[in-house]
Amino acid sequence: MPDLKGKVAIVTGCASGIGAATVRRLRADGAEVLGTDMNADGGAALCAETGAVFAQQDVADIALWTAIVAQAVERWGRLDILVNNAGTVSALSIEDVTDDAWDRIFDINVKGTMAGCRAAIAAMKANPGGSKGAIVNIASTTAMAALPTDVAYSSSKGAVRVLTRSVAVHCAKEGYNIRCNTVIPGATDTGILTHAEGVTPGLKAAVAKTSPLNRLADPAETAAAIAFLVSDECPYMTGAEMLVDGGMMAIHPGF
Ligand SMILES: NC(=O)c1ccc[n+]([C@@H]2O[C@H](COP(=O)([O-])OP(=O)(O)OC[C@H]3O[C@@H](n4cnc5c(N)ncnc54)[C@H](O)[C@@H]3O)[C@@H](O)[C@H]2O)c1
Repeated sequence: MPDLKGKVAIVTGCASGIGAATVRRLRADGAEVLGTDMNADGGAALCAETGAVFAQQDVADIALWTAIVAQAVERWGRLDILVNNAGTVSALSIEDVTDDAWDRIFDINVKGTMAGCRAAIAAMKANPGGSKGAIVNIASTTAMAALPTDVAYSSSKGAVRVLTRSVAVHCAKEGYNIRCNTVIPGATDTGILTHAEGVTPGLKAAVAKTSPLNRLADPAETAAAIAFLVSDECPYMTGAEMLVDGGMMAIHPGF
C-alpha cells in the first residue's frame, strides 16, 4: 500500500461513490484529508466515520476554491494531494440539451476541476521545503467512446482529459514538482448509476455487461488507482491516464 503519512489531501465529492472510497483509502494510507461535497449530511457523516475533516463545497462556485484550499493549509500547514472527483450527468442528447444544462455540467465537471487545479497549484508551490504535489482528475470512458444520450457529460469528460495534460506539462515546464494525472473509471457501482437525473432502472445491470470482467467496479478498486497516482511510488508519471474499466476500452466491439 502507498505510504501517505504526512501528506495532506483534498477530495471533492466525498459523500458517496468513488469520492467516499477515496477518502477511506487515503485515510487508511495515512493522509490527512479534507473531504468536500455539496451534500453536507452525507459528506459530514463520511468524514466523521473516517477521521477526515468536512467542508461543504459546490465545486462550480469558483470563488470558494481559494477558501477550501486555505482551510487545509491553515489546519495542516501544506497541501500535497487534490482529487477532483465531484461530477454529475445530464442524460440529454445533442437534440435535447439546453444551454443551461450544458453550462451546469461544464461548470461542475470542467470549470470546477480547472479551479481546483489552479488553487491547489498555488498552495503546492508554497509548500514548506519547496513545490511538491500530485493532482488526480476523474474523467470517464465516455470521453473515449461517447454516450449518445449525454452529449454534455461525454464532452466535459473529454475536456478533463486535455485539461489534465495541460496542467501536467505546464507544471513540468515551470520546474514545479507537481504532477497531474487522469483516472478513467468505467462502469462503477455508485449512486450516479441509480440516482442521477435521467437514469433508467435497468442501467446498472446493462452497463455491468459492457465490461469483459462482466461486473461493475467496486469504488474501492478505483480509489486504489487514485491512491497510487497521488503517492511517491510513481514520480515519473504526469500527464498520464489510468483506465480502471475492467477492460471495457480494450475489447473489440464485435465480441
Ligand atoms: N460511477 C461510474 O460509473 C463512473 C464512471 C466514470 C466516471 N465517473 C466519475 O466519477 C466521479 C464520482 O462519481 P460517482 O460515480 O462516485 O458518483 P456519485 O453520484 O456516487 O458521487 C458524486 C458525488 O459528487 C457530489 N457532487 C456532485 N456535484 C457536485 C458539486 N457541484 N460540488 C460538490 N460535490 C458535488 C455528489 O453530491 C456526490 O457525493 C464523477 O466525476 C463521475 O463523473 C463515474
